[in-house]
Amino acid sequence: MNEQIAIITGGAQGIGKVTAQTLLRYGWQAAIFDCDEEAGREAVEETPGLLFLPCDVSSEESVKSAVQEAAARFGQIGGLVNNAGFGINKPIEEMSLEEWNRVIGTNLTGAFLCAKYCAPHLRRARGAIVNISSTRAYMSEPHTEAYSASKGGILALTHALAVSLGPEVRVNSISPGWIDVTGHQKASRRKHIEWSAEDHAQHPAGRVGRPADIAEMAAYLLSEKAGFITGQDFVADGGMTKKMIYV
Ligand SMILES: NC(=O)c1ccc[n+]([C@@H]2O[C@H](COP(=O)([O-])OP(=O)(O)OC[C@H]3O[C@@H](n4cnc5c(N)ncnc54)[C@H](O)[C@@H]3O)[C@@H](O)[C@H]2O)c1
Repeated sequence: MNEQIAIITGGAQGIGKVTAQTLLRYGWQAAIFDCDEEAGREAVEETPGLLFLPCDVSSEESVKSAVQEAAARFGQIGGLVNNAGFGINKPIEEMSLEEWNRVIGTNLTGAFLCAKYCAPHLRRARGAIVNISSTRAYMSEPHTEAYSASKGGILALTHALAVSLGPEVRVNSISPGWIDVTGHQKASRRKHIEWSAEDHAQHPAGRVGRPADIAEMAAYLLSEKAGFITGQDFVADGGMTKKMIYV
């Protein structure tokens, strides 16, 4: 039984929620930091072992007080999964500075702020950080500048933190490809989508990804079994970024 707590940002829905549930199963305590209170309440109803702390990761005050609260409730913070994120896809001529700053503020600055306020706790616990990037850090569709830049920033933040916080704290990232989160959203947002045979078959692994594909990797990277691994990015995309496409 691991008496330490892991913080999972954006843990009220999607990949973050399944990661929090997975970590609970592996014996961690799990605190979900999320700005969506409705989703946070529903996640706790579904999985009563989770601790929900309302938090906007783009706000320094909010992160500081949520980290204090998590530490006060559980003592040691041994893991941090920086997962909160979203995108705004628009042609660059139409993208406002405010929209750009909002995406960078959550996806990249949020990871910086959570790492900053968790760092003293993680050092004491000899813990680990997992940052959630995206295969969009490596390749793009049109009109995804803010999201792609935020995820590219996560890769660099990951190796910088690994070098700064080692040897006490290991820091890695995961770059998911297409992950179907539709069954893991709050009820008012949940949809059922039947993906087509083509959606699945275009992946060398033969299927669209599931949140558990990312959650299991995060659990491994937080565990002592990954004690020699730091500063790395792990692509979990069913092989999509290894496939050449000639039209
Ligand atoms: N689903 C995919 O296909 C996919 C692929 C690659 C990367 N990712 C990344 O994985 C992460 C999770 O994605 P998801 O698909 O599960 O999304 P999701 O929308 O299902 O969940 C994201 C959660 O983050 C929360 N959040 C957003 N902004 C926040 C903020 N400022 N402070 C606190 N919480 C905030 C939301 O309320 C939500 O609960 C994101 O970083 C995303 O970029 C997802």
